[in-house]
Amino acid sequence: MLSDTAGYWTPVALSADLPPATVIPAWTPAGSIALWRTQSGRVSASSDRCPHRGMRLSHGFVRGEALSCIYHGWSYSPAGGCIRIPAHPDLVPPETIRVAGHKVQESRGVIWVAVGEPLASQPSLDDLLPLRSLTVEAGIPALEAAAGAKIGMDGLISIADCPWVRLLPTEQAGRTLVHVMIEKDRSLSDRLTASRIAEAVRRQAEARQKEVE
Ligand code: FES
Repeated sequence: MLSDTAGYWTPVALSADLPPATVIPAWTPAGSIALWRTQSGRVSASSDRCPHRGMRLSHGFVRGEALSCIYHGWSYSPAGGCIRIPAHPDLVPPETIRVAGHKVQESRGVIWVAVGEPLASQPSLDDLLPLRSLTVEAGIPALEAAAGAKIGMDGLISIADCPWVRLLPTEQAGRTLVHVMIEKDRSLSDRLTASRIAEAVRRQAEARQKEVE
C-alpha cells in the first residue's frame, strides 16, 4: 500500500465524527493537522499551527465557512488564506498569511488526507460501511497477529473469525488508529457483534504489544 517515496492517502477520521462547523485534531504520518468542516459541509485539512504565534488551530472554532484561531481570532478560509484579523477589522490581510493545507477527500463515510502526492486513489470500500473508530496502543504487526490476518494491498485487515468485519488502520507514533468497517446490509445485532469483536482484537493486540516491549 505505502512506499517511502510515493505519496498516499491516509484515513484520518470517519465522516460521522466531523459534523458541520466543527474542527478536530487528526494525525497523518507527515504531522498533526486540524481537520475541519464548514457550516456548508466542506472538509479541509489544515496544518495544525496558526501562522500568527503558532497556536494549534485544532483548538480553534469554525464559524460559517472559516476556521478561527482560539488565541487572537485570526480566521482562515478552506483554501488556507487569512481572511480576518479581529484586532485590525479594516485591514485586508496580505495573501502571504496562509495556513498550509493537504488534499482531502471524503468517500463512503471515511475522510482521507493526502500525504505527499498520491500516485493512486484511495482504496475502494464499495461493500463496506464505517462502524466506529478506536485507538489501539499497539503497532500494526500486533494488530495483524490479534486479527489473524495480514494487512492487504487495500490497507484493510480482515478478522479471521469474522470476515465480514475489516479493520482500516493508520499507525500513529506507537499506537494505531483503527476504523472498523462492516459489510453493508448487516443487521443491528451484527453491528453490535462487530463492535465487540473489534474491542476484543484491540485488547489482544495491546497484550501482544506488551509482550514484545
Ligand atoms: S496565534 Fe493564532 S491568532 Fe494569534
